[in-house]
Amino acid sequence: MYLPERRLFSQPSLVICLVFFSLLSLSTFLHLQKNNYYPWWRISIKNTSTLPDHKPTSFLNTTPGTPTKNLDRGMWTVNSIGRLGNQMGEYATLYALAKLNGHQAYILPAMHQYLAPIFKITLPVVPSELVGKIPWRNYNLHDWMSEEYRHIQGKYVRLTGYPCSFTFYDHIRQEILQEFTFHDYIKEDTNQYLLQLRGQRKEVTYIGVHVRRGDYVNVMPNVWKGVVADKDYLEKAMNYFREKYHDAIFVVVSNGMDWCKQNINASRGDVYFAGDGRESSPGRDFALIAHCNHTIMTIGTFGIWAGYLVGGETVYLANYTLPDSPFLKVFKPSAAFLPEWIGIPADLSPLLPKS
Ligand SMILES: *[C@@H]1O[C@H](CO)[C@@H](O)[C@H](O)[C@H]1NC(C)=O
Ligand SMILES: *[C@@H]1O[C@H](CO)[C@@H](O)[C@H](O)[C@H]1NC(C)=O
Ligand SMILES: *[C@@H]1O[C@H](CO)[C@@H](O)[C@H](O)[C@H]1NC(C)=O
Ligand SMILES: *[C@@H]1O[C@H](CO)[C@@H](O)[C@H](O)[C@H]1NC(C)=O
Repeated sequence: MYLPERRLFSQPSLVICLVFFSLLSLSTFLHLQKNNYYPWWRISIKNTSTLPDHKPTSFLNTTPGTPTKNLDRGMWTVNSIGRLGNQMGEYATLYALAKLNGHQAYILPAMHQYLAPIFKITLPVVPSELVGKIPWRNYNLHDWMSEEYRHIQGKYVRLTGYPCSFTFYDHIRQEILQEFTFHDYIKEDTNQYLLQLRGQRKEVTYIGVHVRRGDYVNVMPNVWKGVVADKDYLEKAMNYFREKYHDAIFVVVSNGMDWCKQNINASRGDVYFAGDGRESSPGRDFALIAHCNHTIMTIGTFGIWAGYLVGGETVYLANYTLPDSPFLKVFKPSAAFLPEWIGIPADLSPLLPKS
């Protein structure tokens, strides 16, 4: 149902709001400056006291001096759910849809806490005191762009769902890549690490490999009639790059590193199990594969985003559910994988009845 908009801000309260949030953001900024030297990879997403390099983003300050203009454009946001890949998908979708509909996008504080320690994101934040007071119109999205999303009504809209599809934002790809620019110290640390892997070799081609395991190992077969990537898939994907680049090295990150060490053949000396697999602070692992030259992903939005940011060749696991899987009602492969990406079909035989 469409909720009529209420007049949220009368003039005097607007002025008070502005002064209050300017002070709030200034004090937040000053406080955070002190924590700049804490190693970024130790930052737990739950520990907001350690957010480094935090840009002061105060309410309505995107165009200083013209707050009423921004207010007129309303306030659009998106739910902050899931982990890194989902958060990035939600952010990018909000960015693109708010722009298409001519409204100002704001992210929720929880999303800011998640993404700001890693990327130089620029969207302003809804002050936490206001989140519950704004009469949001919830608008649920499925996972691919639709014509009706160009005409979403409402001044205070909260997009909901787990949108992650290039079909929402590929037309402004450069802006999205800009939003997901890593902080300089992350870039430097990561490049230094990759340089160490190169050792004495003059040149190498880095292939980031993301092996999604964890909860998916059970969720895929039990909920979605699907599989996760197996040993054969990874071998095929890696051999594709070995044949193409004589100097390929593989930088493996995973939330199931033990499985990777047991199932990826590292005897050629070109495989590095580099990830720390920490799910609570995925920034380091993500930065590692996002700084490589090409990507091997398995399933999940973490790998999809790595492939998208890297922009090299991306190999993905294709057709990893049975044709009657309910997964295909919420997930459209053609909207998830870019047309030029290379799919290797999954072996679905573990799902079939044993004869
Ligand atoms: C949060 O980060 C600070 C460093 O700024 C650290 O001393 C503290 O132990 C951390 N707290 C938690 C709960 O991780
Ligand atoms: C691992 O790869 C090497 C080199 O190609 C090969 O000789 C060896 O048989 C492989 N090991 C396994 C367990 O597949
Ligand atoms: C490959 O990635 C490395 C590390 O990010 C980078 O220094 C190098 O320039 C890239 N090579 C190419 C050909 O893009
Ligand atoms: C996945 O299945 C579809 C439908 O059967 C097929 O058209 C497509 O080629 C398959 N993809 C790959 C990479 O095998």
